[in-house]
Amino acid sequence: MKVIGIAGSLRPDSNTLVYVKTALDELSGLGLESELISLRGKKINNCLGCYQCVERAECAQEEDDFAGIFGQMQAADGIILGSPVYLSSVVPQMMALLARATFVSYWNDKLLAGKVGGPITVARRAGHNLAFSQLLLWFFINGLTVPGSTYWNVGLAGAGGARDAAGDEEGLQTVTNFARNMAHVMKKIYA
Ligand SMILES: Cc1cc2nc3c(=O)[nH]c(=O)nc-3n(C[C@H](O)[C@H](O)[C@H](O)COP(=O)(O)O)c2cc1C
Repeated sequence: MKVIGIAGSLRPDSNTLVYVKTALDELSGLGLESELISLRGKKINNCLGCYQCVERAECAQEEDDFAGIFGQMQAADGIILGSPVYLSSVVPQMMALLARATFVSYWNDKLLAGKVGGPITVARRAGHNLAFSQLLLWFFINGLTVPGSTYWNVGLAGAGGARDAAGDEEGLQTVTNFARNMAHVMKKIYA
């Protein structure tokens, strides 16, 4: 069983990476394979709305990193999506990935359905709930199962980067608890 964690920040010293990695480390400790994928340094163009993916199970845009990441999403049994909160929303590069992944999957036998996963959002102060909901809507339309935690998977950390995230004891514990529930559900489903 493999879980990938996609971290949407483009910053070198990213808080989001810390939270996603914390969840993945917990899953690894519980015997699952895990892989961290950072969108930093990746090029993900916006969906062009060309609808060519309705005719064939791939995106018509081939000149960026979408196909590789979508392949990893398809191959995984579990998907964690971590995004910084910008203006109370998920960051644009993550939304570009998710729009294209949804359309390729949705129009081609729901390629991502049946997997397990969940969102993590990270903000300095406010806007978590909207961004978290945006990601939840993605999991729902794509037919993934989302386990709960002991709180919403939100991190409180600012421009200080990994140093900030490391101080957010409750946020790190929440994503750890989420990862435990995710492992539990996955072991039941894939037993
Ligand atoms: C353009 C921009 C918009 C932001 N908007 C918000 C916001 O709406 N609410 C908030 O609490 N923090 C906001 N922040 C702060 C980031 O969410 C916060 O620093 C987060 O930890 C960044 O994650 P990262 O280190 O993984 O990139 C914003 C930061 C930037 C650069």
